[in-house]
Amino acid sequence: MHAEELQYINEAFEKNWIAPVGFNIDNLEKAVDDYINAASPVKYKTLALCSGTAALHLAYKVAGITKGTPVFVSDSTYCATAFPITYEGGVPIFIDSERDSWNMDPEALEKAFKLHPEVKHVVIVHLFGTPAKLDELTEVCARHGAVLIEDAAEALSSFYHGRHCGTFGKYNAFSFNGNKIITTSSGGMFVAPDKEAWDKAMYYATQSRDPVPWFEHKEIGYNYRLSNVLAGIGRGQMLHLDEHHALKKHIYETYKEGFKDLPLTMNPYLPDTEPNFWLSCALIDRNVDVKPMTVLDAISAQANAEGRPIWKPMSLQDVYAGSELVKSEDYPVGYDLYDRGFCLPSDIKMTEADMQRIIAAVRSCFT
Ligand SMILES: Cc1ncc(COP(=O)(O)O)c(C=O)c1O
Repeated sequence: MHAEELQYINEAFEKNWIAPVGFNIDNLEKAVDDYINAASPVKYKTLALCSGTAALHLAYKVAGITKGTPVFVSDSTYCATAFPITYEGGVPIFIDSERDSWNMDPEALEKAFKLHPEVKHVVIVHLFGTPAKLDELTEVCARHGAVLIEDAAEALSSFYHGRHCGTFGKYNAFSFNGNKIITTSSGGMFVAPDKEAWDKAMYYATQSRDPVPWFEHKEIGYNYRLSNVLAGIGRGQMLHLDEHHALKKHIYETYKEGFKDLPLTMNPYLPDTEPNFWLSCALIDRNVDVKPMTVLDAISAQANAEGRPIWKPMSLQDVYAGSELVKSEDYPVGYDLYDRGFCLPSDIKMTEADMQRIIAAVRSCFT
């Protein structure tokens, strides 16, 4: 937190706008619109919501995902990419990762369309804030007449060929959860280029109310708008987004330098992309007998800091037992990343001494 967040919260109190409408929400939406649209040929408009999960849920509803709709979705991701498909009764078909950015493999996606040519929805994630292969993925989707949806929850301030992630798909989402590069404590945004989609998302987010003076409803709706008080936090945080990005990048570079002689590689990114470096991760070389949990335990014991294994693929989760995975290799790439990878502590409040303690703890596992 910086000073401005509290100032904007106080303004909401002083003006008595303690509701899911108000000037902090309007200002936050405008700030994010301006930020993400700077290099986008198509102008996207954001809708502030109470979570990134809600934003994805509305993206799926507006995209027409409903009972029985098959959806191609990244396998290596956080549960919230897939769960709202299931809320709607859609059927996720998981697509494996490639090794260059750890995101959806365009070749596996192509293979999936051969198996299921009827599929019309593709949901990709930019995992850990690293842009996916958007050129290839958008080309495959266009060729098969499928709608692309970006889960850019972790990717605010990530750029692909100079253009902001979340401005490529037809309906997209950001998260402002407490752990993200900027936060509203809990919050998120639905993102779409056309007013019709934005209006529809707004309608669902406000209990599907018809525009009449009384409460009139023809569809089931949700109470998904962001509070004007919490939007004040986001408004203040937006002023510091580039600063957070630079700090995240510094953390990544510091780890990279600290591990350069170890049998580890940092999470990779594509040429001509600028990730937001939201989470720094590392992959232990094959044939090295050190497990991710051993390293994470050392970080905890020696540096009193928290890391985590790479996100466990959705097709390995009990809740999705029996679901289909379209693999990139015989042993899925996402499973391999999960077996050998770990996320490093990446909090921008870390000091140089904190980072050096973490680096020493990791090094102790390999010497
Ligand atoms: C990839 C991904 N998708 C979706 C979400 C859901 O966002 P939220 O926690 O704001 O609901 C998150 C973060 O939590 C995420 O990391």
